[in-house]
Amino acid sequence: MSEHLPSFRLDDQVVVVTGASRGIGRGVAEGLAATGAIVAVTARSLADAEVVVAAITDAGGRARGYALDVTSIESINMAVDQIVADHGRLDVLVANAGLGANLPALEVTEEHWDSMMDANLKGAFFTAQACARHMVGAGAGRVVAISSQASLVGITDHVAYSSSKGGLNQMVRVLALEWGPLGVTVNAVAPTFIYTPGTAERLDDPDYRAKVVERIPVGDVGEIKDVTGAVVYLASEAGAMVNGSILTVDGGWTAQ
Ligand SMILES: NC(=O)c1ccc[n+]([C@@H]2O[C@H](COP(=O)([O-])OP(=O)(O)OC[C@H]3O[C@@H](n4cnc5c(N)ncnc54)[C@H](O)[C@@H]3O)[C@@H](O)[C@H]2O)c1
Repeated sequence: MSEHLPSFRLDDQVVVVTGASRGIGRGVAEGLAATGAIVAVTARSLADAEVVVAAITDAGGRARGYALDVTSIESINMAVDQIVADHGRLDVLVANAGLGANLPALEVTEEHWDSMMDANLKGAFFTAQACARHMVGAGAGRVVAISSQASLVGITDHVAYSSSKGGLNQMVRVLALEWGPLGVTVNAVAPTFIYTPGTAERLDDPDYRAKVVERIPVGDVGEIKDVTGAVVYLASEAGAMVNGSILTVDGGWTAQ
């Protein structure tokens, strides 16, 4: 082994993942468990979280389920306090929970706009704040927010979603400045289209998928493990010097 190869493992680290009942959140929770982490699997419903906990423990990992709705500050605080009470520490937050829907700007309603902002931006902020209170007390922690390529470039029919994710990037930069000196790094992963239950309906349409893939220089949409790899990097020793970054995992979409 070389002293110049950092560890990509998260042995015994307590990791919180929001929106972990399916898609990227579930995959990241399972992937982090395989690096040795103790995963707090959070979902709006405890029953949904328990399904993922069972999958992780069946695979030999360690996990516990919690109900956490990111649109309720009370729910966030209750879950985070319970996680710290159960495990005595909280090392990493993966702020993944989010909503996405396509709508031409002229059809966007107040309800649509608010739902994106509440889950994708406000929810991520108040979850990060609740977790950081414990991390700052311990003098160490990592926050990884799941942003999107749509935070960096315009994508037609995504005005509320793109605005929420653009705001999320700015949140990351400000928190990196405030919490970095206190031992807590804050970064985002910005994926391209990843095939999940949230995108399956659109990506199963061959015309839609072809238009998407045309924009991705590596020639295909991403997989959940592409996102997990970036999260592991940012959450582990390997990412110790990375703070305030928006790490694109987009096959080159935003390079053009
Ligand atoms: N799949 C993609 O192409 C893609 C690309 C870029 C970014 N992202 C982002 O990745 C994240 C996950 O996306 P996905 O494709 O896995 O979506 P998904 O719809 O498959 O899963 C989203 C998860 O978030 C949860 N969630 C929604 N509102 C919540 C709330 N109020 N409280 C707690 N949990 C809530 C859902 O229950 C679900 O488990 C989102 O933030 C999304 O914006 C996805």
